Amino acid sequence: MRPSNNMYSYFNNEFLPIEQTFVHISDLATQRGYGIFDFFKVVNGKPLFIKEYLDRFYYSADTMRLPVSLTRTELKEVITQLINRNGQADAGIKMILTGGYSPDGYEIAKPNLIVSQHPLTLPGPAVLEKGIKVITYEYVRDIPHVKTINYIMGIWLQQKVKEHQAADVLYHMNGQVSEFPRCNIFIVNGQNEVLTPASRVLHGITRKNILKLSGKPFVVREAEVGLEDVYAANEVFLTSTTKRILPIIQVDDKVIGSGKPGPVSLAILDKMLEMELE
Ligand SMILES: Cc1ncc(COP(=O)(O)O)c(C=O)c1O
Repeated sequence: MRPSNNMYSYFNNEFLPIEQTFVHISDLATQRGYGIFDFFKVVNGKPLFIKEYLDRFYYSADTMRLPVSLTRTELKEVITQLINRNGQADAGIKMILTGGYSPDGYEIAKPNLIVSQHPLTLPGPAVLEKGIKVITYEYVRDIPHVKTINYIMGIWLQQKVKEHQAADVLYHMNGQVSEFPRCNIFIVNGQNEVLTPASRVLHGITRKNILKLSGKPFVVREAEVGLEDVYAANEVFLTSTTKRILPIIQVDDKVIGSGKPGPVSLAILDKMLEMELE
C-alpha cells in the first residue's frame, strides 16, 4: 500500500498529509510488532458495515490492552472528516493502533492512532471465472481472534506461494484448517452445507455477513473443518473485505469439485453484492 499523493491521514488528533505521517522508531509496533488495526471499504462515500468493523477494532484494542483515545462517536466523526477531506468516495480505510512510544522497547505505552485512506482494487471478473489455487501450511496465528499487525508468517510464506504458482496459503494444525493469512475459508460439503472453521480464526466481517445468510437458501454454519474435508469438498472459497469471495479450484495437488468456481460460491457472491448495496 504505497502512500497516495494529496491524501490526508489522521494521526493523534490532527489531519496530516499522508507523506508526512510517521511514528517514531521507539513505537512498540516498530520495536516488537505490537499493535492492532482494522480495515473497511467506503462505497459512494459511505463506510460499509461500520458498526461491525468498529466493534472488532475496539475488541482488538481492549484485548491487547491498548486504550483508544477516541470514543466510537469521535472515531466515526474522524472517519467522516477524512472521507470528505480526501474526496475519495470509493476506497479502503485503515485504522491502526500501535503499542506507543515505549521507554524500554517492551512496556506498552500510550498508543498512537492512525487512520488513513487508500485506493482499493477488488478482484475482477477474470479471477472470479477461473478461481485460484492455494497451498497449505501448518500454523496457527498468535491470538487469532484479534486483528493484530502480526503477519510475519503470511509474509514469510509469500515466496513459497509464488514457487507453487498459488495465490494464497491455508493454515492448518493437527488436521484442522483455520484460515488464510488475510482471509477466512468456507467449504461446501456433500450435503450442500456451507461450513467455516469455528475456532482459531479471526472473526471476519465478510464471514459474519455470510453466516447471516444461513437458510437463504443454503445452510451456513460454523464447524470443525478438517484438511480432508477441504480436499473432498464440492466447493471451497475464501472471503475478506478486499476480496469479497474468491472461488478456490485447487488446494495443494487436489482439484476441488469440478475444477471450476461452483454455483453456491457464486450465488453467495451475488448475495454479498446485494448486501453491499443495501
Ligand atoms: C487473519 C485474517 N483472517 C480473516 C480476515 C478477513 O476478515 P474481513 O472479512 O473482516 O476482511 C482477515 C482480514 O484482514 C485477516 O487478517
